Amino acid sequence: MRIFITGNRGQLGRELMCSLSAHTVDGGDLPELDISDADTTRRRIEAAKPDIVIHAAALTDTRLCEDDPHLANRVNGLGTRNVALACRDAGAALLYVSTNEVFDGLRGEPYVESDAPKPVNAYGRSKLKGEEEAQALVERLYVVRTAWLYGGGERDFPSKILAAAARQAELTVVTDEVATPTLARDLADAIARLVEIGVYGVYHFTNSGECSRFEWAREILRLAGRSDVALKPTTLAEYNAYPPKPPYTALRNEAGARLGIALRPWQAALAEHLAPPT
Ligand SMILES: NC(=O)c1ccc[n+]([C@@H]2O[C@H](COP(=O)([O-])OP(=O)(O)OC[C@H]3O[C@@H](n4cnc5c(N)ncnc54)[C@H](OP(=O)(O)O)[C@@H]3O)[C@@H](O)[C@H]2O)c1
Repeated sequence: MRIFITGNRGQLGRELMCSLSAHTVDGGDLPELDISDADTTRRRIEAAKPDIVIHAAALTDTRLCEDDPHLANRVNGLGTRNVALACRDAGAALLYVSTNEVFDGLRGEPYVESDAPKPVNAYGRSKLKGEEEAQALVERLYVVRTAWLYGGGERDFPSKILAAAARQAELTVVTDEVATPTLARDLADAIARLVEIGVYGVYHFTNSGECSRFEWAREILRLAGRSDVALKPTTLAEYNAYPPKPPYTALRNEAGARLGIALRPWQAALAEHLAPPT
């Protein structure tokens, strides 16, 4: 397969380049590929002659999205429209990577692929707009929603917790934001299997299980041998979370499981990620 990856130098994009290396893989990212520029996007994708575009580029800074919803929409909504139009022109299928934050988090049990999205913040609204643009323009489409990606360096949650633990004796973390930490490499492997199987549709791919941010932080500290750092529980309301967060967004993987694609428990992935190098 010829595969083009947008955002190929981002956290997930880098892993996708590895997981799909048995194929002919090309990709683009800022600054040379700006998906909010329709012409550049069309020309770059046309030149790659892909069978499929895996669209992992996004504005993922949720605070910036909330501060500047027009920018969020320009990149995540209209940028996805540009990628989808380019796929249509190039005759390529599209895989759009979306988020748990398209849901409002009030359902109280894991969301299945067919549940109705209802975002509560600008990032979620812009990613949902991306889903809608892709669905309106491309027939051969996968939408893969995921959550709490890590494994890509100092901006991810484990790195931030460990950096904070190096500075402070006590950390305060919320107990009422619940989802599933997902190792970017595991997601990239699952996406690779999905496009090799080739069944279009909406998928929920996270590592399995669920936890609160607090439980995630506690496991990070334990695995890193830093259980000496005190963890103080708080709530989204007390913490005055900005942007507003959907509280409970565990995703149930029903469609992928039917194809034999299941990701390992989040604790196992985290333990491997934080294991000291041998
Ligand atoms: N991270 C998470 O927890 C999470 C959770 C659920 C879903 N997702 C989704 O998963 C996908 C991958 O996320 P990630 O964690 O790999 O994010 P990431 O590390 O921020 O990677 C996104 C890449 O897209 C690039 N980008 C931003 N604006 C662009 C533009 N206008 N044109 C072209 N490229 C642009 C970024 O470049 P710069 O770094 O230069 O901005 C970055 O290289 C995204 O679609 C995201 O919405 C992420």
